Amino acid sequence: MAEQVEHPMGLAAESGKPTNGTNGSHTNKSSDAVKTSRFDPAFTDAVINATGPKASPRLRKVMASLTRHLHDFCRENEITIDEYMAGVEMINWAGRMSDLKRNEGQLLTDVIGLETLVDEITYTLASEATDAPTATAILGPFWRQDSPIYKMGSSIIQNSIPDGDHTFLHGRVLDFNTGKPIQNAEIDIWHTAPNGLYEQQDPEQPDMNLRGRFYTGEDGAYSFYCLRPTSYPVPMDGPAGKLIQLLDRHPMRPAHIHFILTAEGYKPLTTQIFDRRDKYIDNDVVFAVKDSLVVDFLPKKGDEKAQFDLEYDFKLVGYGVEKKGGMEGATAVAP
Ligand code: BEZ
Ligand code: FE
Repeated sequence: MAEQVEHPMGLAAESGKPTNGTNGSHTNKSSDAVKTSRFDPAFTDAVINATGPKASPRLRKVMASLTRHLHDFCRENEITIDEYMAGVEMINWAGRMSDLKRNEGQLLTDVIGLETLVDEITYTLASEATDAPTATAILGPFWRQDSPIYKMGSSIIQNSIPDGDHTFLHGRVLDFNTGKPIQNAEIDIWHTAPNGLYEQQDPEQPDMNLRGRFYTGEDGAYSFYCLRPTSYPVPMDGPAGKLIQLLDRHPMRPAHIHFILTAEGYKPLTTQIFDRRDKYIDNDVVFAVKDSLVVDFLPKKGDEKAQFDLEYDFKLVGYGVEKKGGMEGATAVAP
């Protein structure tokens, strides 16, 4: 039986040795499910109460909740050691596959809708007080830092792509509240080649192909040439693909273009726009499509560099008008 000591923060804490099993005797009992469980009803509280006084309040709250949900999940489903080890190996496999060009961990969570859910929560927190600035959408695992900076009006297509539908994409970056143009906003954009691959997945493409950054002038306007995007399957050669296969699901994302918009004094916007005509528009493997981000590519005449035209304005929210969300106060764990 583990000895209880009073924690400096007023929480019950284990003295000395860490608990590694179900033989603790603890006083806090939380849910009815735990009370009626065949398993040690006090174990989860013992783990949660091991948190020390220097942990930030936000991290304390979030980790307590995560621990409780995970423990309840294991008890409810009577997870066995073999199943637990299979889960751990999925996570390790994702880690081994991940580097600066590939983020398999993120992909794994995307497949079960986690990034889309967190995006919805963050967006709701940010826009509750107002009506509708440009909606956010998930980052996904294929963004790269330091993509090339281009002059407004140029093309992000670095190689000749005969089978691609070239598009002139243009619009303005506006202050959501005042409607005024935002000067010096950075627009970071990326999309796949017609073979459905991002450049870092495809040795045939030049480095940083089909991605780039642009800066708006006084009028807030932006314009560049890119491709009309294509739908593509998420990578199936790692644990995310394995999970998709085991769940008997399809791997396709509807055609989309990614954006990150940043401007001084404004909340950064990570988003995507989606082609209405795409077959997978209502059936995205990572559940990221939002109605306001669905667009129509129109035929373009008289421009030898593009067969399609797309006009899209971005509306950014200034700091100070939205509510705060996120992991404020949490301890960063990445080195
Ligand atoms: C992407 O759109 O790049 C993406 C997002 C989530 C998972 C896989 C890919
Ligand atoms: Fe994508």
